Amino acid sequence: MTLKDKIHSEALAHLHLDGKDLDLVIHKGTVGPRVIDVGKLYKETGHFTYDPGFTSTASCKSKITYIDGAAGVLLHRGYPIEQLAEQSTYLETCYLLLNGELPSKKELLKYRMQITKHTMLHEQMTSFYKGFRRDAHPMAIMCGVVGAMSAFYHDSTDISDPRQRTVAANRMIAKMPTIAAMAYKYSIGQPISYPRNDLSYTGNFLKMCFGNPCEEFQVNEVVARALDRIFILHADHEQNASTATVRLASSSGANPFACIAAGIACLWGPAHGGANEAALNMLEEIGTVDRIPEYIAKAKDKTSGFRLMGFGHRVYKNFDPRALVMRKTCHEVLESIGREDDPLLKVALELERIALEDDYFIKKKLYPNIDFYSGITLRAIGFPVSMFTVLFAVARTVGWLAQWKEMIEDSEQRIGRPRQLYIGEPLRQFVPISQRN
Ligand code: SDX
Repeated sequence: MTLKDKIHSEALAHLHLDGKDLDLVIHKGTVGPRVIDVGKLYKETGHFTYDPGFTSTASCKSKITYIDGAAGVLLHRGYPIEQLAEQSTYLETCYLLLNGELPSKKELLKYRMQITKHTMLHEQMTSFYKGFRRDAHPMAIMCGVVGAMSAFYHDSTDISDPRQRTVAANRMIAKMPTIAAMAYKYSIGQPISYPRNDLSYTGNFLKMCFGNPCEEFQVNEVVARALDRIFILHADHEQNASTATVRLASSSGANPFACIAAGIACLWGPAHGGANEAALNMLEEIGTVDRIPEYIAKAKDKTSGFRLMGFGHRVYKNFDPRALVMRKTCHEVLESIGREDDPLLKVALELERIALEDDYFIKKKLYPNIDFYSGITLRAIGFPVSMFTVLFAVARTVGWLAQWKEMIEDSEQRIGRPRQLYIGEPLRQFVPISQRN
């Protein structure tokens, strides 16, 4: 069934403007808010809609992810995130997001082999890393290396060819952990560690990050399973800023590697994927439970410019369901490595308790989001703060690719080109420098 078939155009919205009446079609999806189709508004009325930040704008149709912010619901192809996090694996979730259905045993085995066989990076790309300063932020390295992939994998850049789209998606999902691990190794001056085909997706990633040539690396299966669950939690999230960036970049026909690099760059911002790094830095700055009231007061003082990182969400006005699973996973990891008394966890739990009882946060419906607990967990596993958003990017790659693929296959999609409300100077004549003071 095409995307078009899944839409039911029904009631009309009546607009009375400048003495004219205009009927706008209302579309209804499977579930969630209906949309008013304003596609003909400018042509019929000479007016644009105005919605900075797109708080009331649906940019596309999609069958991939559904979020009910008020109820704290997140579904991927109809399956609740809690069930996927508990019962699925990241690669099985990748298959689901990309293909729309859970794989059979045979399909999953084949898909796992396809990904495993693509984990190596073109050897010449390793020279890229040597061009960066040792203290380069790994996200800067990731933006550069992923953007350069179109120079090495040119045979999977023709987005009109479904086979090349599949190869590009497999290559991205398979190589992102290798690229991320190489950025980490480079930053700590250790030799890069090559992927192994006998390890799981996250076991391989842990080995490439924390293994070394001097000894056999033993995968901690509890940590590998926890990291796999963290990847599932971060896999896709509807039309968030970085996904919207990937869709907009793809709408011009740019190659998939360049579009994913654009998504990585957008994710890096502290208001988005960079919040896990910012949240951990904030917890470290708070340091002890007795300093929490000082920071709660700062977060409520508009003039401070300070926000509780890891709190609030554009869509969730209830608990972020991923944050609840993330908090449980955080406890499991800390327990498994004997760090359940981590002082930062104490600060995080107390900060969450106080904030959730505070009128300011209750009124503004500010709850912990996925980034609040992920930082503590990743730090406990052994990742430096600078790698937190890199891991978010590794996990989100499948969401970007699923949305990219859906956009290319949507016959209604065309190049994204928003308009504006112009508030600049009216027409005026140029004054040559000889006539100016
Ligand atoms: C992610 O979109 C996605 O789906 C993103 C994501 C994904 O999976 O892709 O879920 C991942 O990006 C999660 C969000 C991570 N960011 C942070 O944790 C940074 C801290 N949070 C924010 O800056 C903020 O809450 C946003 C950016 C997440 C949401 O911003 P909005 O929807 O534009 O809300 P807003 O900035 O207009 O804030 C509304 C009000 C404001 O007060 P008023 O002007 O109404 O008086 O709430 C206040 C804000 O000052 N507010 C906060 C706050 N977040 C919002 N006050 C204190 N601390 C905060 N964290």
